[in-house]
Amino acid sequence: MRELRDTTALVTGASRGIGPYIARALAARGVNLVLSARSEAPLTELAASLRLQGVRAIALPADLAVATERVALARSAEAELDGLDILVNNAGIESEGVFIEQSAQAIDDTVAVNLIAPRCTSRGCCCRRWCSGDGVTWSP
Ligand SMILES: NC(=O)c1ccc[n+]([C@@H]2O[C@H](COP(=O)([O-])OP(=O)(O)OC[C@H]3O[C@@H](n4cnc5c(N)ncnc54)[C@H](OP(=O)(O)O)[C@@H]3O)[C@@H](O)[C@H]2O)c1
Repeated sequence: MRELRDTTALVTGASRGIGPYIARALAARGVNLVLSARSEAPLTELAASLRLQGVRAIALPADLAVATERVALARSAEAELDGLDILVNNAGIESEGVFIEQSAQAIDDTVAVNLIAPRCTSRGCCCRRWCSGDGVTWSP
């Protein structure tokens, strides 16, 4: 199995649901974590608990439906812990109800978070790793 110790991962959607489990599983293998979502408090709490496990972990809140925040996250995540090795595009919106009854804003947000944001983070965060052929991206 691939050695992950001392690598660094960005996990989006790390505030609740599957995200915190992914972050803890990576931390258990010695991976440093950049944690993102809109909700700052659970991210900060999770980062603190992961640091107690002996890895570096920081919270970088961002709303992935907002273009400027997507771009800022991609830039900051790469810079904060000296580069990224793993990108987990986990943040997602599950659409509920009948499509034509959804508001235009809800549809736009779903497309932005589920489709545009992973493209943005994949292009923005991992360029250096892609070029060296050593990057990993995972979208659940
Ligand atoms: N659960 C399943 O059975 C299942 C099955 C297949 C695939 N998936 C996929 O796995 C991923 C996680 O699922 P889940 O069940 O853990 O979902 P969840 O409980 O609804 O959590 C979604 C995560 O995405 C974040 N998020 C939502 N909107 C965001 C936005 N505008 N900007 C930034 N972050 C945002 C949320 O954080 P904030 O609200 O704090 O921003 C939260 O951390 C999703 O992509 C989902 O499609 C889930």
